[in-house]
Amino acid sequence: MSVVVAGGSKGIGLELAHGVSEPGENVVIGYGSDDAAAESARVRLEAAGRIVTIVRADTGTQEGVRELIAAAAALAEPIRVLIHSTVRVVTGPLMDLSDEDLAHTLAVNATSLLWLTRAARPNLDRGSAVLYLTSRGVRTYVAGYGTVGPAKSYADGLIRYLAVELAPFGIRVNGLAPSTQDTDALRDVFGDRTDEVIAAAKAKNPSGRLVVPEDYCATARFLISSDASMITGQTLFVYGGADLLG
Ligand SMILES: NC(=O)c1ccc[n+]([C@@H]2O[C@H](COP(=O)([O-])OP(=O)(O)OC[C@H]3O[C@@H](n4cnc5c(N)ncnc54)[C@H](OP(=O)(O)O)[C@@H]3O)[C@@H](O)[C@H]2O)c1
Repeated sequence: MSVVVAGGSKGIGLELAHGVSEPGENVVIGYGSDDAAAESARVRLEAAGRIVTIVRADTGTQEGVRELIAAAAALAEPIRVLIHSTVRVVTGPLMDLSDEDLAHTLAVNATSLLWLTRAARPNLDRGSAVLYLTSRGVRTYVAGYGTVGPAKSYADGLIRYLAVELAPFGIRVNGLAPSTQDTDALRDVFGDRTDEVIAAAKAKNPSGRLVVPEDYCATARFLISSDASMITGQTLFVYGGADLLG
């Protein structure tokens, strides 16, 4: 059995790659361009006993998605968990976004959920789970997030449709939304304001603290486990209640 994480070289994807896999298990990590981060992810995961394959391939293209899944298929074992954690941010108003950037960000941030699931389907068995990383930007306006939030709304629909289509085969598809994490993507969205945004997220959280990786990794382990075998097409918000505030 293997775990495949598109966007698993850093940030939330890397935490999940570690958090949902077991020692001795194959973990296939996809990434876009940062070779150093991918190598350091490999070192961290191998030190924790995982058998790691890293694949540099653009999930904004169907060829890139096929390349990533081909590496997983070459292991000749079922994919236990497929995680979509790739994100590309282009800041600025949507009204100024080029058609090229619109098409590519939509593909990286959303359509690739469908491409990945379709490509992986021959290796998804009864009990396999697909997880898509999302956020409160799926339903609210967040300045600088125009290439991500609306894409996540599309993926939100994909989650429900794929969930119903794959339910007869015992394959579940769910969304997971962790609250603010200090990552490259967050810094791409908020730039110089990132530290301020993180401090505000902490101050405003009704649970009195920031969400840490173990919070959403534990939720992911539940969602992919047999305890959640009748939960599909849902998104769990791991925000400590902060998603419920205005
Ligand atoms: N950070 C937060 O506060 C937060 C909160 C809720 C939800 N999320 C969601 O969680 C997911 C992960 O976000 P993150 O903050 O962890 O981001 P991150 O740390 O910036 O990681 C993004 C990952 O996506 C890969 N990637 C980017 N473009 C790619 C492409 N064209 N092809 C293949 N891989 C590509 C990156 O690899 P390279 O760097 O090598 O390109 C990296 O592995 C996203 O869906 C994000 O919206 C984030």
